Amino acid sequence: MGLENQVALVTGAATEIGCAYVKYLLQNKVKVLLCDVDVNKCQVILRKSLKEFPNSSLFSTKCDVTNEDEFENAFKMCIKYFGRLDIVINSAGVFDNSTERRWSDTVNINYGGVVRGTLLAIKYMGIPNGGSGGIVIQTSSLMVLSDSYHCSPMYLSTKKYMMEFTKSFGKKHHFSLHGVKIITLCPEFTAVNCARPVCKNETMHQNGERVDEELEDSKTNQQNIEKQKLDNIGNALIAILDYGKTGETWIVEDNKPPRLIEY
Ligand SMILES: NC(=O)c1ccc[n+]([C@@H]2O[C@H](COP(=O)([O-])OP(=O)(O)OC[C@H]3O[C@@H](n4cnc5c(N)ncnc54)[C@H](O)[C@@H]3O)[C@@H](O)[C@H]2O)c1
Repeated sequence: MGLENQVALVTGAATEIGCAYVKYLLQNKVKVLLCDVDVNKCQVILRKSLKEFPNSSLFSTKCDVTNEDEFENAFKMCIKYFGRLDIVINSAGVFDNSTERRWSDTVNINYGGVVRGTLLAIKYMGIPNGGSGGIVIQTSSLMVLSDSYHCSPMYLSTKKYMMEFTKSFGKKHHFSLHGVKIITLCPEFTAVNCARPVCKNETMHQNGERVDEELEDSKTNQQNIEKQKLDNIGNALIAILDYGKTGETWIVEDNKPPRLIEY
């Protein structure tokens, strides 16, 4: 897939992974709309990106993925500004261990945001709707595929729903109807503070009781969290855009190229 002059919309573009996606898209001469609920951070990333890629074509907008109208407006703006849309990257997400406090936000952002983003992608890129087809990348997590992580059940379940949704909606039958590929990327922890698993002394509910988790010896320790480089995730995105097929699940870990898994 030649990426030059393609147009991408990236949600959650204001934080590390979203920002890495933006960087690698710009490096490959893709035009990008940065979307995030945090408009100030988004502006910072926009200015930084323009410094790094002065000839690039990009702009940013406030977009809360839980707000249908705001999300759809971002799609409309993108097509108005760039004249087309080819790639949608759903990266907006929250990680919250306080299962009982913010569970509905976690579902609404992590899962609802992906469903809305995918349906809008089909609406605006789908061939029967006047689009040219395209590709949607969902950002799940490697934690979903392992039993050794003891982090927020809400986080993990939303990331798992997202994968089920993609597997089912990404089937060839659906693709043949609209021409939009839907693929999941599962990054391993990366060197950022957010979206991290439960760490030492954090608390979570287990079997209805509050417990302190001591996970120093588990795979969730800081040393491992810092292993995966953001650049590796950016590279993985470009590789998957190039040769990923609809309905597939890819993992990216240990600073290695992405790997297709049976899911
Ligand atoms: N950091 C990791 O190690 C890791 C590993 C695997 C997967 N992920 C996933 O990758 C994605 C990016 O993670 P991250 O750690 O870079 O950042 P993050 O999880 O801290 O935040 C992602 C971005 O989403 C934005 N956001 C939150 N709510 C939003 C909403 N309602 N509408 C629009 N934007 C919203 C935030 O402002 C932020 O810029 C997330 O979906 C996360 O779950 C992260």
